Amino acid sequence: MQRYANISKYQQIIQYHPFWVQKVDHFSRKNSLIACQNHKITQENFYTMAYGLLKGKRGIISGALNEDSIAWKIAQRAHEEGATFTLTNAPLAMRMGEINKLAEETGAKIIGADATSIEELENLYDESLDFLGGPVDFVLHSIGMSTNIRKGREYSDLNYEWFLKSLDVSALSFHKMMQVAQKKDAIAQGGSVVALSYIAAQRSFPDYTDMAQAKAMLESIARSYGYHYGKAKGVRVNTVSQSPTKTTAGTGISGFNAFYEYANQMSPLGNATADDCADYVITLFSDLTKKVTMQNLFHDGGFSCVGISEEIVEKMEQGIK
Ligand code: NAI
Repeated sequence: MQRYANISKYQQIIQYHPFWVQKVDHFSRKNSLIACQNHKITQENFYTMAYGLLKGKRGIISGALNEDSIAWKIAQRAHEEGATFTLTNAPLAMRMGEINKLAEETGAKIIGADATSIEELENLYDESLDFLGGPVDFVLHSIGMSTNIRKGREYSDLNYEWFLKSLDVSALSFHKMMQVAQKKDAIAQGGSVVALSYIAAQRSFPDYTDMAQAKAMLESIARSYGYHYGKAKGVRVNTVSQSPTKTTAGTGISGFNAFYEYANQMSPLGNATADDCADYVITLFSDLTKKVTMQNLFHDGGFSCVGISEEIVEKMEQGIK
């Protein structure tokens, strides 16, 4: 609700009543400008209003740890767009208690589940379907953890127990979330499953260590499971490859500030924020992307397609002089 903190009654009506959203959608650009002036709405606010894209949809959102988490922003946007959902996280993370605020704000139920445990995932779907009153339309996998990164182990000195744990938590859990769902027939026809990835799956980033392999596996699972779930139930499965983002997981990587700034200066649109990511993921949960599946979708301000930017050239030239 933060983004609507200072909006007028008129905007609240539009936000909560999809009928008005439809009406507004049919305004001509000229009329919309007049409406903005009459009701003292800035054009920026006018165009960032909710559209009811997830009206009537049910979902499960994992990974909201605190207000910085990408999943936190996705939950807020999903709520604004009319979805009902459950929130899940590892029981240890939930003990921090932050998630209660989000649950209160969005009317969600919190169901603890370690995403590596089949038993806990089974319980997650059982309780979610019970709470939501039917199968879910979308599932968000926003989970990542590497003990090697946490403990500062270099790529040429990895602890293999921890490596396997990184793969289990950050990638295999994505497969588990879908396999458990499919066995329980917990995702509705045409549903959408999204996981968050990073470009280190394709390119070398020295300090991303074993998470690079985890992300490569995550994206591969999206392609393989996307085929099977698509055939079986028309379920879409995609990964979104997001810009570096200032979150607990993100800033835990050594040298984060430097590669955050580097990516920002390389990308013609600048880094995508967690809020931007939420907007994009909402479209993937919505009916506007019914035929998008098995993709790794770059959401990075253009970073993945740039060789070098003028800003970086300038910096290098200054350094060479
Ligand atoms: P975050 O730290 O807020 O979220 C990571 C979440 O994973 C936490 O909520 C944590 O409790 C959860 N988690 C860890 N182990 C778990 C387990 N065993 N079972 C269930 N949940 C578990 O950080 P952020 O950045 O929002 O991360 C979300 C996703 O976005 C991750 O997959 C991350 O790799 C990805 N991503 C992050 C980027 C960044 O720069 N922050 C860039 C690109 C992708």
